[in-house]
Amino acid sequence: MASIKTLLCIAMVSFLVIQVVFSSDPDILTDYVLPENTTVTDPNYFTFTGLRSVFNATYPTTFTPVKATLNEFPGLLGQSVSYAVLEFPVGSLNPLHIHPRATELLFVVTGSLQVGFVDTTNKLFTQKLETGDMFVFPKGLVHYQTNFNTSEPALAVSAFGSVSAGTQSIANSVFNSTIYEGILAESFNISADVVERIESGLKG
Ligand SMILES: *[C@@H]1O[C@H](CO)[C@@H](O)[C@H](O)[C@H]1NC(C)=O
Ligand SMILES: *[C@@H]1O[C@H](CO)[C@@H](O)[C@H](O)[C@H]1NC(C)=O
Ligand SMILES: *[C@@H]1O[C@H](CO)[C@@H](O)[C@H](O)[C@H]1NC(C)=O
Ligand SMILES: *[C@@H]1O[C@H](CO)[C@@H](O)[C@H](O)[C@H]1NC(C)=O
Ligand SMILES: *[C@@H]1O[C@H](CO)[C@@H](O)[C@H](O)[C@H]1NC(C)=O
Repeated sequence: MASIKTLLCIAMVSFLVIQVVFSSDPDILTDYVLPENTTVTDPNYFTFTGLRSVFNATYPTTFTPVKATLNEFPGLLGQSVSYAVLEFPVGSLNPLHIHPRATELLFVVTGSLQVGFVDTTNKLFTQKLETGDMFVFPKGLVHYQTNFNTSEPALAVSAFGSVSAGTQSIANSVFNSTIYEGILAESFNISADVVERIESGLKG
């Protein structure tokens, strides 16, 4: 017969598993949440105008994400959603990265994009997206987006299931984060001078 201790352990493990499976931004118990020392007096708290610039500015010459996350838009606090508008000039790349805290749902508004992600079995999924197409990047997986078209820029809107999805660049987190060179050399089965060459490329 299972002892009380064993049952307790099973209960605790089950609880942890359930927590992990359903983890996302915490649910709030009120309609909305205000930052400390703030009182809502008008709809401006729920409004963000920082993306107007996307439609006004001349098109950037390199890949440019314009974010509307908790950082830029405090009214998102507690609501578990955010946006980024992604501008891809001809031939540009949003290099390999992950979002540790959210799934990304990308919508191509103008132009076309080549996208891809790698799952935890190292299987690569790539797709050519046309204007009007959507693509979902599962939470926490390595992915990229690029505009291969030689004449037309692309614009995409990405929605995230978190107010603060986070972005971790693969290149920077590995080769531009002062990890000891020997660790990198052994991890990638390359010599120290190859590590240095990659590092110096990122330092610019
Ligand atoms: C909120 O107001 C109190 C009292 O004026 C102050 O002590 C506190 O630092 C404020 N907190 C923030 C986050 O501004
Ligand atoms: C966008 O351009 C229009 C016309 O030039 C101007 O009136 C408006 O203030 C601009 N908006 C932003 C956000 O720059
Ligand atoms: C680039 O986009 C234009 C306009 O949609 C299209 O006509 C052309 O075929 C595209 N070129 C390539 C190489 O995909
Ligand atoms: C590392 O590379 C060498 C050849 O340069 C190869 O013989 C060896 O199997 C590789 N080791 C791993 C762990 O991939
Ligand atoms: C590498 O890190 C340095 C220092 O943090 C930073 O200035 C530089 O922009 C990074 N390189 C890239 C390619 O982001």
